[in-house]
Amino acid sequence: MNRGLTAWLPAAVLAFGVTTACGSAPEGGHAGTAEDPWVIGMSQCNLGEPWRVQMDADVRAAAEGHANLRVIFKDAQNNSLTQRAQVEEFVEQGVDLIIISPKEAAPLTRPVAEAYQKGVPVIVLDRKVQGEEYSTFIGADNVRIGREAGAWIREMVGDQGKVVELKGLMTSTPGQDRNQGFLEGMAMDQNPGLELVFSGEMQWLEPNARREMESALATNDRIDVVYAHNDPGAHGAWLAARAAGREGEMLFVGIDALPHEGQQYVREGIMDATFLYPTGGEEAIEAALALLQGGEVSKAITLGTRLFTQTNVDSGGEPIG
Ligand code: FRU
Repeated sequence: MNRGLTAWLPAAVLAFGVTTACGSAPEGGHAGTAEDPWVIGMSQCNLGEPWRVQMDADVRAAAEGHANLRVIFKDAQNNSLTQRAQVEEFVEQGVDLIIISPKEAAPLTRPVAEAYQKGVPVIVLDRKVQGEEYSTFIGADNVRIGREAGAWIREMVGDQGKVVELKGLMTSTPGQDRNQGFLEGMAMDQNPGLELVFSGEMQWLEPNARREMESALATNDRIDVVYAHNDPGAHGAWLAARAAGREGEMLFVGIDALPHEGQQYVREGIMDATFLYPTGGEEAIEAALALLQGGEVSKAITLGTRLFTQTNVDSGGEPIG
């Protein structure tokens, strides 16, 4: 069975306290049998990006193995208000559990908290909400990934380098965390020859990254490295650099490492490195089953990462940490 990207990932599970749905099995409307399966509502913030299509596929593949589960998928089309309405609708229709991969932290915090207070277990996947009113958060450590990316870049360029950062959506936690970790990893205060010459917000989208990179190229005669918060961003930057005939002058580093996206760019020599960002789809279904059966689940489940470079991409990359 092809269980998608997450099947071969090492997942480091860290416990920060445990959650059960009100201490016993939640009172959803369904029995959790093949005749009357538990219903999970899955709200995906958008399906415009390949990584999110993969996340839904991973959830679907993991759920398929359980006849006592049924998943209803909704796509919020990159709109936080739509996503809020989806969570409210799931509660009204009496789903037994909600999985949400929220677009932004602040606007989705309240609907998630309200569902949780009403006794519906909520699994928050990949991007966080504020506070702790949900059952469990599942995702990789984005500060850590950013730090590793910064350290890798420092190793590549030494103590001299002009760097461009193309940031994800900064109202989403991976954008904030990948920026914070990167600045820590680059340690520019101790390495004055390293310079952040341009920083733009591309909101996770390749066309935006391309536009931001055009500005970076127009205002900088020399760029040594582009660090983008995801692979579509790194690819958009490469397209802009190639159009300017300058792609050979710099390294391109991204995050996600989907086999058919970032890993492929590395294999083709377009990108120099990408860090795996697992979707957590399989782990979400595992956690959902545990919660629905009244079991205990860690409040935070932290997934591992891997580094893919041109020298290791064909052998599956290397684990970090
Ligand atoms: C897809 C995406 C990924 C990124 C993740 C962060 O929407 O932008 O590329 O790693 O979201 O939440």
